Amino acid sequence: MILNMDGFNHLMSNQLLRVDHLVKRYGTKTILNQLNLTLLVNDYASIIGKSGSGKSTLAHILGLMDDYDEGSIYFQGRLLDPKKDNAIIRAQSIGFIFQSYNLIPHLSAEKNILLPAVFSNLCYDKERMKRLYEHLGIQHLLNTDVSVLSGGEKQRVAICRSLLFDPPLILADEPTGNLDAENEALIFRLFKELREEGKTILVITHNQERAKEADKCYELKGGNLHDQTID
Ligand SMILES: Nc1ncnc2c1ncn2[C@@H]1O[C@H](COP(=O)(O)OP(=O)(O)OP(=O)(O)O)[C@@H](O)[C@H]1O
Ligand SMILES: [Mg+2]
Repeated sequence: MILNMDGFNHLMSNQLLRVDHLVKRYGTKTILNQLNLTLLVNDYASIIGKSGSGKSTLAHILGLMDDYDEGSIYFQGRLLDPKKDNAIIRAQSIGFIFQSYNLIPHLSAEKNILLPAVFSNLCYDKERMKRLYEHLGIQHLLNTDVSVLSGGEKQRVAICRSLLFDPPLILADEPTGNLDAENEALIFRLFKELREEGKTILVITHNQERAKEADKCYELKGGNLHDQTID
């Protein structure tokens, strides 16, 4: 573990995730340009921005699913090595929620939810998962092939999967982009509950009203984040 003085300062100041001077290019196009972001433990933050502004690019980098050209990422005070496979941190500490669910078709809901444990050999709390199934209202769907579920049901299954290892950070990239108002309300209510439990939430959304419900709201524009928070 690399924990230098800077990393120590991050820990002491309760920083969960910090990104310094992040640069991401695709060919000659600079998508993220010296971007800085700090998420403190138990923050609830949102990001808005025009289509193509780089929101998903940023989300994938923060979710340790994509590489970047320059900059540093600290997670829980640790400076991450971009050349190293950070699969364990990704699996254990970051719950990622996609707009299009990313479920495996023709597998049951429960198999989809538990699949990360099969791949990683990590343990999870079975009792906690049972409570989560009930809370998300998916206990009657566990043996159902996810291909036949509605959008809202699929997203609840996907959210359940993202919470399997009780991660401190939830990253959601337009989690309600394909859903109706009722499911949208349900999912944003869940984010608030998770936040009350002590989780840190970062949600990307096109919905300005939802974005403003967060404590911190940023707009991604010109490759950097601009504070849109209104007290
Ligand atoms: N793998 C890739 N190769 C080349 N260019 C890419 C790649 N992925 C994204 N881009 C480009 O990067 C820019 C940002 O894309 P990104 O998907 O991050 O935008 P976004 O803000 O999430 O948009 P939306 O709101 O439509 O989801 C776009 O111009 C896109 O074409
Ligand atoms: Mg996107």
